[in-house]
Amino acid sequence: MGKRRSVAPIYSMCVQPAFIIGTNNEDGTANFAPITWVSVTQEEDEGYMLVISMFGTKRTKENVQRTGIFSANLVSVDMLPLMDYFGSHHASDGPKDGAAYEVGRGEILDVPVLEQSRWVYECEVARIVETGNSITFFCPVRNIQMDERLSCRDPFDVDLTVLEPVIYSGKYHSLGKLLGDIGDFL
Ligand SMILES: Cc1cc2nc3c(=O)[nH]c(=O)nc-3n(C[C@H](O)[C@H](O)[C@H](O)COP(=O)(O)O)c2cc1C
Repeated sequence: MGKRRSVAPIYSMCVQPAFIIGTNNEDGTANFAPITWVSVTQEEDEGYMLVISMFGTKRTKENVQRTGIFSANLVSVDMLPLMDYFGSHHASDGPKDGAAYEVGRGEILDVPVLEQSRWVYECEVARIVETGNSITFFCPVRNIQMDERLSCRDPFDVDLTVLEPVIYSGKYHSLGKLLGDIGDFL
């Protein structure tokens, strides 16, 4: 290993999957915004929960607080222009109609979804934790819409090469090599 040096704890090395969150505005229209602070956890007798964190003031956060439901649309590399567009526009400045995208609906929850996304979670908020001006939502996944090309033999058999996810850590990256399964390196 090379030598390490200590630095101020301000740097963000947080490898994140990129999602665009779809929510319902008060007037029934759809709003989308990228949120990458997304992880998972589990509660007894429940499936797994998405843990998603939003800072500051944004329509997406208000909509999730008001409605308790949202979609999390995985961003594949072909969706980067859409991600940048949604991320640099705020619903408070007007509808996000300056880019082309098709909107569908959730199959279990009444949430807007991005038709272009290859993996969509439909989520419902179960618990909220506030830290400063951030809110973290703990959200059971009520439905997954996955690309029809995927055939998963078990819950962990998801071929990411089909999904081509954008990986975010301050900059956008794509996926590297498949290295193996759990146990392959024992
Ligand atoms: C790459 C990227 C990642 C982002 N991740 C988050 C995030 O994890 N949490 C958050 O609160 N905002 C995040 N944002 C900021 C929101 O997407 C941005 O403020 C957006 O304009 C909010 O739109 P809205 O007001 O219509 O909800 C991110 C933006 C970009 C471009």
